[in-house]
Amino acid sequence: MVIPTELSKSHHYSTAPMPTKPNFRIRHFSCFADGFLYLGGACLGFLLVWSLWSLAGSTLTHTFDPASAVRAAASSGSQKCVQENPAVDLRYDPPEPTFYDDPELSYSLGRPIKNWDEKRKEWLKQHPSFAAGARDRVVMVTGSQTKPCKNHMGDHLLLRFFKNKVDYCRIHGYDIFYNNVLLHPNMPSYWAKLPVVKAAMLAHPEAEWIWWVDSDAAFTDMEFKLPLRRYDYKNHNLVVHGWARLIYEDKSWTALNAGVFLIRNCQWSMDFMDTWAKMGPMSPDYPKWGQIQRSVFKDKLFPESDDQSALIYLLYKDRGLMDKIYLEGGYYFEGYWVEILPTYDNITEKYTEIEREDGKLRRRHAEKVSEQYAAFREPHLKEAGNAKGSWRRPFITHFTGCQPCSGDHNQMYGGDTCWNGMVKALNFADNQVLRKYGFVRPDLLDSNTVNETPFDYPEEGPW
Ligand SMILES: *[C@@H]1O[C@H](CO)[C@@H](O)[C@H](O)[C@H]1NC(C)=O
Repeated sequence: MVIPTELSKSHHYSTAPMPTKPNFRIRHFSCFADGFLYLGGACLGFLLVWSLWSLAGSTLTHTFDPASAVRAAASSGSQKCVQENPAVDLRYDPPEPTFYDDPELSYSLGRPIKNWDEKRKEWLKQHPSFAAGARDRVVMVTGSQTKPCKNHMGDHLLLRFFKNKVDYCRIHGYDIFYNNVLLHPNMPSYWAKLPVVKAAMLAHPEAEWIWWVDSDAAFTDMEFKLPLRRYDYKNHNLVVHGWARLIYEDKSWTALNAGVFLIRNCQWSMDFMDTWAKMGPMSPDYPKWGQIQRSVFKDKLFPESDDQSALIYLLYKDRGLMDKIYLEGGYYFEGYWVEILPTYDNITEKYTEIEREDGKLRRRHAEKVSEQYAAFREPHLKEAGNAKGSWRRPFITHFTGCQPCSGDHNQMYGGDTCWNGMVKALNFADNQVLRKYGFVRPDLLDSNTVNETPFDYPEEGPW
């Protein structure tokens, strides 16, 4: 039962050595030197997009003149071209050996990896088209069990939860991996994510972050983007929704929620997951950890050691870990559905009001440029607040305790409260998506009915 309390001291995180500024040479090369004729067209396209963007951003007008945009593009000079990320090269894997060629490399949790930062850095060097955007690259990882759900609507709900994540990732340009097999036979249920996250780190050296999101969590603000710079600022490597006071004073096993976390793809994370997993069922000390957790966290409901209590325990024992673990309480990095569900209706009204006031937000647009409209909306949300009591759309609504697949929900809630709540949350989110496809559900509890959104919606009501 040795807890390496020196974890935060002995494994210094060294920033993955990626250029913090875009690599001009690479960009220049891909725009002007290599295949100029082919890329010239792409550059023109970038210019056009760029100038539309800047036009819309600088003059708050929503009357748009395509001809002047093209003229602006033509006169804005060729160096604008380098502002766009070069496309990543999906077909280039040079023959020089990488960490993948080491027969000793193991994807399995329990066989630690060493010098991961150097290995990842080397891989990025060998794959320069991925290096430029690496700092902000995120891969979302989620999953569910191998077998059909016991709950009669469980598989349907999981499909909708997954669709919701795919929507969010498509809008923001993230990759997503859905896993539905146990990667470590002794790490079932809530422990199963750790082996998946390790494997995802090795499979995605191009990504700085792996973002685990539980299958029962829904994105309910399709516009909100992770504030990654906040976590870069002091080199935090793990982000969870939680509160220090609940760890160190209240000693509660709900001081944080381990169902959604963002973890940096680096050696510190690899070491930390090894430590974390040592409190799980793959470890011979597993039964003891359950007792220890229960002796510290009096509100813990069940005797087995769980991943969430384990994480809280590690933080509780070594406060120095807070240097590396960011407890995000500034927005709904994930939020308790019981608290959030009653707020959707008022929030819908508020957002509709904002759109009636601001024509920019009513303008139809391609889904690909959604982030621009999120930026347009931001000034209107200054007064909204964040998290509890806020009328900003909650980022993630997490149906903790509902267990959509097994149906074995916490007896605190009726099953129908859970299932109807999920339908409402998923439709609340899906309306934000469907809008870009020209439709909207008028009733969040009626999944079957959509209306076509008329031009300038929602200028005329009632909606
Ligand atoms: C919604 O708004 C109404 C009117 O302002 C208010 O009375 C009500 O408490 C709000 N509901 C919630 C859940 O905030």
